[in-house]
Amino acid sequence: MPVITEIEDLRRIYKRRVPKMFFDYTESGSWTEQTFRENSSDFDKIYLRQRVAIDMEGRKTASQMIGQNVSMPVALAPVGLTGMQHFDGEIKAARAAEKFGVPYSLSTMSICSIEDVAENTSKPFWMQVYTLKDDDFMQRLFDRAKDAKCSAAIITVDLQLLGQRHKDVKNGLSAPPKLTPASVANMMTKVQWGLGMLQTKRRFFGNIVGHAKGVKDPSSLSSWTAQAFDQSLNWDRIREFRKMWDGPLIIKGIMDPRDALEALNVGADAIIVSNHGGRQLDGALSSIRALAPIMDAVGDKIEVHLDSGIRSGQDVLKALAMGAKGTYIGRAYVYGLGANGEQGVTDALNVIHKELEVSMGLCGRTDVNALDRDILMIPKGFSGDWEE
Ligand SMILES: Cc1cc2nc3c(=O)[nH]c(=O)nc-3n(C[C@H](O)[C@H](O)[C@H](O)COP(=O)(O)O)c2cc1C
Repeated sequence: MPVITEIEDLRRIYKRRVPKMFFDYTESGSWTEQTFRENSSDFDKIYLRQRVAIDMEGRKTASQMIGQNVSMPVALAPVGLTGMQHFDGEIKAARAAEKFGVPYSLSTMSICSIEDVAENTSKPFWMQVYTLKDDDFMQRLFDRAKDAKCSAAIITVDLQLLGQRHKDVKNGLSAPPKLTPASVANMMTKVQWGLGMLQTKRRFFGNIVGHAKGVKDPSSLSSWTAQAFDQSLNWDRIREFRKMWDGPLIIKGIMDPRDALEALNVGADAIIVSNHGGRQLDGALSSIRALAPIMDAVGDKIEVHLDSGIRSGQDVLKALAMGAKGTYIGRAYVYGLGANGEQGVTDALNVIHKELEVSMGLCGRTDVNALDRDILMIPKGFSGDWEE
């Protein structure tokens, strides 16, 4: 394995090792991909203020997210189909996270089930839940998360409808993969990936097949998915979910201060400012631009987290200095997983940790819990000066 110094190193290896269909699934945004691109490029518009001759010894990245200790405030975001990027991918990523001391979030649409991950890890993880119509399924999902000792639930509220990613349509993305001549030809070149997949039985959506009504085998899954998501979702429905889960609750996918206030009223413990990594509403603001108005509206009343576009510790530093109490990485750790399994996820976390810790020091600060906007130079109008 070559020396890994940045997330881009992992992305390059990931691209070589994993079938195109799954690389494209990760490396896409919806429609024109404007929001996907700007999620990252907008971080570059914020500058860090260099300070010198300030004691930079004893730097500390340990913090808390929703009252739980973390070695740095960077969680692994829920990512569907992770077990298609590398065999038993969810278990591998969860293990890397627990060793590093950061939270792992398991997607509803994971390949390894809640129970699989619980059996193969020793610390509680967080369970991400989509807002589906079927009450029985929802209650069971929360109950299963509780039985697995999950220490928080994340309800994702930005996927009532699915934004289209052109490459997924063209590639015929599915789990297990559809075997067309082109996909078979491509997979045959990914020897390590294929050998890994042959070692595991976990190749279907483990939280759904055998658990959702009428989904006894993978072939009935696509018709279930098509009607399962609740397009009529409203905040009363989210209140019902709040009642189904009595543990810490995080609401993911907030981009507007009004929705942040609603999430607060529902009784969430934290919100995630997120546009789903640019995979849903193309043309939405980047999440780093959306952060400040949301901080102003609810920042003193609820914990605010952020994801979308983070590719470095400097990005994490900027989000924290703008007021976020925690951040999440999605693609950055999936690159690592696809590149080199559990070790690759650890590499991704190491890269981000080092960048965060050193950059914080070079800004003259030693504690992630005591950051503020003074270390940033934010362009005027960055968070918007829009027509009413
Ligand atoms: C391949 C992929 C699959 C995802 N699947 C889910 C999911 O199942 N549930 C969810 O809440 N978010 C999902 N997300 C969104 C992530 O949780 C997170 O919001 C996003 O990846 C953050 O952006 P980043 O990838 O630029 O870090 C997915 C993202 C990617 C890239």
